[in-house]
Amino acid sequence: MRKGIALTLALLMLLMLLMLSGCAGKQEPAADNTSVVVGFSQLGSESSWRIANTASMEKAAKEAGYSLMMENANQKQEKQIDAIRSFVAYRVDVIVFSPIVETGWDNVLNEAKQAGIPVILMDRMIETQDDSLYTSYVGADFYAEGRRAGEYLVRKADALGADHLRIAEIHGTTDSTPMRDRQRGFMDVIARDGRFEVIDSVDGDFLRSKGEECAEQLLEKYGAEGIDVIYSHNDAMTLGALDILEQKGIRPGTDILLITVDGEKDAVDALKAGKINCVVQCTPNLGPAAMELVRSLTSGETISKVTHPEESLFTDFDDLTDPSVEGF
Ligand code: AHR
Repeated sequence: MRKGIALTLALLMLLMLLMLSGCAGKQEPAADNTSVVVGFSQLGSESSWRIANTASMEKAAKEAGYSLMMENANQKQEKQIDAIRSFVAYRVDVIVFSPIVETGWDNVLNEAKQAGIPVILMDRMIETQDDSLYTSYVGADFYAEGRRAGEYLVRKADALGADHLRIAEIHGTTDSTPMRDRQRGFMDVIARDGRFEVIDSVDGDFLRSKGEECAEQLLEKYGAEGIDVIYSHNDAMTLGALDILEQKGIRPGTDILLITVDGEKDAVDALKAGKINCVVQCTPNLGPAAMELVRSLTSGETISKVTHPEESLFTDFDDLTDPSVEGF
């Protein structure tokens, strides 16, 4: 009897082992790319967008099996330059970086070029006479985002029958790509339309705290009656401004129209609540595309110079109960 039980148990264990090994056999083999080292210079942690972008890069590198050496520059260009120098000294395989501003990179990128290390610009561009200093750019088309914001405002003015709208702009970090291009795209759409007047443009540095300060200053200078629209270059600053409006008893989205860029959850929720009028999307999820570029580069394939993700916008003209209307 005992022998019978022991035999049954042994058979059961054997069966379980076979099942486990069968399951293991069906799993995807783990990528073994750990010898590929990617040096990643992130510019900071100024917004939820940036935090999500960092997470996307880390996750995608892990899934691809790459070793990611990440340095966060805390909004300091000098720190990014130091980080890139250390990646060159370490002889990483590829450098990925998100430049805080567009200018001032030629020297350090020349050092990377001399060392034969390809550079991928992720999220933001640089201004240079020498395009060979970077291999590829992956990130949003910020000019198109600015245009979408402007096109929304034209549509809104039509719907309201407005003949004069005074716009205050809260812009992102001075001389950064999203600041320059979101401003240019927006202006290109509204500049020749006599209904629109940009009364001010203030620097909110993509920070929520500065968005609050900017809103305070603007309200002090123009009063709630003197501003019809706030066009803010990111959700962090918009949410800061929104708090200030509410504290002062001004109804955001009604007394002052709010146009924002990014699409984080809190901003999309505020749109659904009628406190923001337009959210232009900018995806932080650039990790998979960046790592695909690393893969192509390290496999010797040619890669495209520019890759833009698909992006759209959510506005108060849309059916906001649609499940596709959601933030990150
Ligand atoms: O470069 C992308 C911008 O940077 C995002 O719009 C903003 O939230 C971030 O700080």
